[in-house]
Amino acid sequence: MEEITIRKYQRWDRGEIRRIFAETAFRGEPLEVFFEGREILQDVFTSYYTDYEPQSIFVACACGGKIIGYLTGSKDTNRKNKIFLSSIFPKVLAKFIFKGYIFKKKNLKFVFNAVRSFLTEKHSYKIPPLYPAHLHINVEEDFRRIGVGEKLMQAFFDYLKANDIHGVHLSTFSDQGRDFFIKCGFRVLWDGCTHQWHYLLGRDVAVATLGKLLDK
Ligand SMILES: CC(C)(COP(=O)(O)OP(=O)(O)OC[C@H]1O[C@@H](n2cnc3c(N)ncnc32)[C@H](O)[C@@H]1OP(=O)(O)O)[C@@H](O)C(=O)NCCC(=O)NCCS
Repeated sequence: MEEITIRKYQRWDRGEIRRIFAETAFRGEPLEVFFEGREILQDVFTSYYTDYEPQSIFVACACGGKIIGYLTGSKDTNRKNKIFLSSIFPKVLAKFIFKGYIFKKKNLKFVFNAVRSFLTEKHSYKIPPLYPAHLHINVEEDFRRIGVGEKLMQAFFDYLKANDIHGVHLSTFSDQGRDFFIKCGFRVLWDGCTHQWHYLLGRDVAVATLGKLLDK
């Protein structure tokens, strides 16, 4: 089996993080399944981590140094939300409108369904008090199920503990993600269901917030 190493993020990894995100964003499939305009969702989902909290990112490398997976995290979800709303979201919204992405049929459908779900469904948007940190994780398809995800998680848990953070949470609507997180010691804090992807999948999907407490 190919040897995989885990290391801290370096600023030249930024493009690769954005690429892997785009290629695995929809339950492991490319984001073009539901959205046109990679740069918009790459900004929304990766730029806080790469540009404001790069010290909390870990990458997995195969032989030759190629990045094949990453974990983007934050020690303080409150801080992340504040920076996202004040510094990232306004710029992304302007780009979404002025570059014309807003007029793409696929994007209109996505926005309509996302807003409708936000307004009509129960969600758990509050940060669970004992779990101030959060994370996102993605591994390239050809490298799944060989332990890369678990290694990335362990590196992040060790980092959080070293920084005196003892709780981490995440949200997922991916079935494979959920099984993986349970295997990594997370427990379900909130369980729900969303209609948001019905127009693509023909069914409602389970969404969950999971949390893990880390030993002192
Ligand atoms: C979820 C993901 C990060 C797991 O990474 P990975 O490197 O494949 O996981 P590992 O090989 O470390 O798996 C560790 C254990 O988790 C569980 N697990 C991982 N993937 C699983 C899957 N698809 N189905 C069921 N259990 C799974 C298994 O128990 C596995 O141990 P085993 O292989 O010995 O049975 C990866 O599949 C991925 O990037 N998926 C696409 C994006 C995604 O869903 N991200 C998370 C949502 S926020």
